Amino acid sequence: MAAFGSVFMPKMAVTNFENNQWSDAAIVSSDSIQMHPGAHVLHYSSTCFEGLKAFRHEDGSVHIFRMDQNIKRLAQSSRLLALPEIDEEQVAQMIKDVVAQFADDVPEPPGSMYIRPTHFGTEAAVGKAAAPSLTSMLYVLLSPVGDYFAGGSRALRLLLDETGMRCAPHMGMIKSGGNYASALQPTMQAKADVEADQVLFCPNGDVTETGAANFLLVDGNEIITKALDTSFLHGVTRSSILSLAADQGMTVTERDFTVTELLEFAAKPGVEAMLSGTAAVLTSVGTLIHNGQEHKVGSGETGPIAQKLRQALNDIQWGKAPDTHNWLTRIV
Ligand SMILES: Cc1ncc(COP(=O)(O)O)c(C=O)c1O
Repeated sequence: MAAFGSVFMPKMAVTNFENNQWSDAAIVSSDSIQMHPGAHVLHYSSTCFEGLKAFRHEDGSVHIFRMDQNIKRLAQSSRLLALPEIDEEQVAQMIKDVVAQFADDVPEPPGSMYIRPTHFGTEAAVGKAAAPSLTSMLYVLLSPVGDYFAGGSRALRLLLDETGMRCAPHMGMIKSGGNYASALQPTMQAKADVEADQVLFCPNGDVTETGAANFLLVDGNEIITKALDTSFLHGVTRSSILSLAADQGMTVTERDFTVTELLEFAAKPGVEAMLSGTAAVLTSVGTLIHNGQEHKVGSGETGPIAQKLRQALNDIQWGKAPDTHNWLTRIV
């Protein structure tokens, strides 16, 4: 299987914002786009994107998971970056149209079609460091994918980073390229130094998230995760897992917690920690690395609750359990 996100469908849906309006969406070749070298995005990072998935069911039908949530988040990211306001209905139609066109290429579970809506400022204006781009491009690119974390369901190793941060605290809830660039060096360093899979960013001891997933804890019948604020991405998977946990009778607690609390917690038998995200789905965390010491979380292996919640999510996505929350949009 090719690396996650390295294979693309040959066409994408695109619209351009010019003269204060969005053009009619078109399906065009996804080989290349044309942009002025002075485009706002290339200089001032006026860019945001989304990641969502379409799934194939056993009867051959194809369904997109929680598309409305990802479009809302794209609208929010665009607004907070002073990009042109997106037309949410148009974007929904673009996603549906391009997925319908490549419905035959949606892989069987556990694979899926990863959908990457992307919006960025195109105005040729290098003098606009402190002013928004008046034009933009929005496209929807498709990539058939398998598992994100090589090694499948192996429990992950996370380095706890208390001194750095993933991105500026007011930018965390924006899904923007610069945030990922900002997390790159610490993540590469953690891999090289302690063979960590990811960095769990805990600025001043406040446990937030990793470079591309939210962080959750399970203690008995309780699931605990950081309360929503501007400092981290409000994951659609996070919200789905919390709903499924509540469906299963678990107590859902959204609250801030510190590294000290986390390490005390990890030492208790039977606790679990996990990462949630569209790409990661729900993956157990087995080891936390802090100040050169390794702390096992519970058994250090993939836990039974993580497995059960992941299964409950996949069952809905794959059409094996009823879609009681109306999370799926049928395409074909
Ligand atoms: C920084 C970050 N946090 C959390 C998530 C999880 O968000 P979602 O569940 O919407 O994919 C992602 C994206 O996958 C992410 O990039």
